[in-house]
This record gives sequence, structure tokens and C-alpha cells, in this order.
Amino acid sequence: MKITSAEFLISATDWQKCPAPTKPEFAFIGRSNVGKSSLINMLVGRKNLAKTSSTPGKTQTINHFDVNGDWFLVDLPGYGYASASRSARYEWGKMIEQYLKRRENLYCTFVLLDARLPPQKIDVEFVTWMGLQQLPLAIILTKADKLKQQELVRSRKAIEEKLLEQWEELPPMFVTSAERKVGRDELLDFISTTLQQADAD
Ligand code: GTP
Ligand code: MG
Repeated sequence: MKITSAEFLISATDWQKCPAPTKPEFAFIGRSNVGKSSLINMLVGRKNLAKTSSTPGKTQTINHFDVNGDWFLVDLPGYGYASASRSARYEWGKMIEQYLKRRENLYCTFVLLDARLPPQKIDVEFVTWMGLQQLPLAIILTKADKLKQQELVRSRKAIEEKLLEQWEELPPMFVTSAERKVGRDELLDFISTTLQQADAD
């Protein structure tokens, strides 16, 4: 898929304030600082479309972008933000849960995991919850540039093994680096294929 346009639409604090669900939508979620906003910028080829920061907790709302006039891309706030208050975490949970369950045009949620880390409890719990809700998801390993090839293979295997404790079949999995533009074509191909299947239905 060629990206011809990418435009910020709106920041919403709940699913009901999101744009009308007129186009297929793909969302990006994962722990705070995992690299969601950076990956979105890399995908659409725009440096500062989604706001990034080295301080966790930068993205706090549901951010919609229109891509190619064809589909919506959504930057979600990160979970597991250590300094967030209990009430802020609760609000986050409610906002995201409602959005994920009710957003009717949500075709796939990409769950981002830091390639450098062993499987984290909070990520496994989130993926398990998505599975129980029967929400379509794909896994994206981020910051692959920080690892040697062998370390990356080991890390991916550890995550797959962890997921296979609960899943019979693994979700689609992508390895990426926003820094080095790794995984861009694969992700855009996946989105493109999903859009075509949606058209055919
Ligand atoms: P929140 O909005 O706070 O939830 O964070 P986020 O998941 O959107 O992360 P963001 O894209 O803001 O990136 C967090 C930090 O990781 C920044 O300092 C980025 O420069 C860095 N980062 C993101 N992607 C990569 C990558 O592919 N490689 C490397 N080396 N660093 C990255
Ligand atoms: Mg962000």
C-alpha cells in the first residue's frame, strides 16, 4: 500500500466522541513508551504526526488519523504507566475497554510489545482479555534495532511460547523498528489485505 495522505482528525476522551465509524479502523495499543506513536509516524511516513516523547504517558486520549481517505488509524494511550494514579488508571481502563468493545468499525488492534523485554504480565493479561472478548488482534514487536538478530529470535520465541500457554494458534506477529523503518511494508500489506477482505464481505 502506498500512503498518499495522513491527516490528524480528533483527540477523544471516549468512544462516543470518536469520528463517525464510516471507515475501517486499525488501532495501536501497548505499554506506555513501547513506541506506538513512533511506529504510527514511521508507517505513514510523517515525522511528527503522532506526538512522541521519551517520558511515558504522552498519549492520553484516543487519537484518530485518516489515512489515504480510506481508513482510520488510531493512537491509543499506553497502559502500565507507573506514575499514573489509581483513579487515572481506572479511567484509562474504562475508556479503552469501552472503545475496544463498542467501536463497530475496528478491524484489528495491534498490540505492541517491546522486543527487548521478556513477556510482561500486564501484556499477557491484556492479550488474554482481548482473546476472551474475541477481538481481532495482531502483535508487533518494537525497537528491534536495539537487539542483535539472535537476541531478537530468542525474544520472539519467548513471547510465542508464553502466548501458546493460552492460545491454540498464535495471532499474526510483526517485528518492527521505527528507528530503522523495519516492518513497514509487512504491516501495510497486512492492513491492505484486511481492507480487501472487508470489501469482499
Ligand atoms: P505513550 O504515548 O507515552 O504511551 O508512548 P508511546 O508508546 O507512544 O511511545 P513513543 O512512540 O512516544 O516512544 C517512546 C520512546 O521510545 C521515544 O523516546 C522514542 O524515540 C523511542 N522509540 C520508539 N520507537 C523506537 C524504535 O523503533 N527504536 C528505538 N531505538 N527507539 C524507539
Ligand atoms: Mg504515544
